[in-house]
Amino acid sequence: MDLGLAGRRALVTGGSKGLGRAIAAELAAEGASVAICARHDNEVMAAAESLRRAGGIVHAQVADVTDSAQVEGFVARSAEALGGVDILVNNAGRAHPGNFETLKDEDWQADIDVKLMSMVRCSRAVLPHMRAAGGGRIINIGAVYAKYPDPAFFATTVVRASCQNLSKALAIQLARDNILVNLVNIGFVITPQWQNIHAKRAPQITQEEFFAQLAKEEVPLGRFGRDDEVAGVVAFLAGARASYITGAAIDVAGGMGKYV
Ligand SMILES: NC(=O)c1ccc[n+]([C@@H]2O[C@H](COP(=O)([O-])OP(=O)(O)OC[C@H]3O[C@@H](n4cnc5c(N)ncnc54)[C@H](OP(=O)(O)O)[C@@H]3O)[C@@H](O)[C@H]2O)c1
Repeated sequence: MDLGLAGRRALVTGGSKGLGRAIAAELAAEGASVAICARHDNEVMAAAESLRRAGGIVHAQVADVTDSAQVEGFVARSAEALGGVDILVNNAGRAHPGNFETLKDEDWQADIDVKLMSMVRCSRAVLPHMRAAGGGRIINIGAVYAKYPDPAFFATTVVRASCQNLSKALAIQLARDNILVNLVNIGFVITPQWQNIHAKRAPQITQEEFFAQLAKEEVPLGRFGRDDEVAGVVAFLAGARASYITGAAIDVAGGMGKYV
């Protein structure tokens, strides 16, 4: 299936590792030019180097999505390097466990900033570029916890629900500009984020044992997902075959989440 992504210009936040890197690689393999950002210089530059092997234009920049000025700088310089913006993937984020009584105000604020406000800031900054291009795609990466509250990830649950609402409201508002906005809700996918959780929570068992245990309890398909299983869905949503999909929330979660 030709996704029609050749020559499209895509920005991926948090593109240095994990899902963001896999998404950037998938888009680049489909012929898109990509720009990525993250906070750690060495990691974002190394990721860019490997993306360049796909042969397209790659722009990489250190930028923290919790900082408005850095977001504006990333979008402006990426648009300049790629010649415009057609696609934005709001992926940067973090897992921050904590229950209602342990989370402090600062923890809540940090979660709101990195998950919700990053989407607000990045989406606002790309609008003029997408309007100039006659349309665009915004794909937000969220979590099934938006619809499946887990008190052990209390802030994530609440903030991801707000990201879901943002995606739908933005889809309605931007439809007239031919800017399609969708959300991909993740369950458990192996990335450095989860490797860190394993190291903190259960270093006495192997990663494979840790992931298998969690998946057995929570995931109907019985396993963690792979980053390419997310990247393929994002590339589809960014491409020409998804031209009538907007305001959708798609789970890539192996059946996780007890809701309809
Ligand atoms: N993996 C899962 O199972 C899962 C489940 C649900 C939701 N998600 C969501 O999916 C997204 C990607 O997760 P992942 O598992 O790939 O995480 P990851 O392995 O920790 O990678 C996160 C990426 O985001 C970047 N990042 C983090 N904070 C940033 C900031 N303030 N500004 C700019 N870049 C930032 C990181 O680079 P730097 O550290 O250098 O900034 C890195 O490139 C996140 O939003 C996460 O919450 C993942």
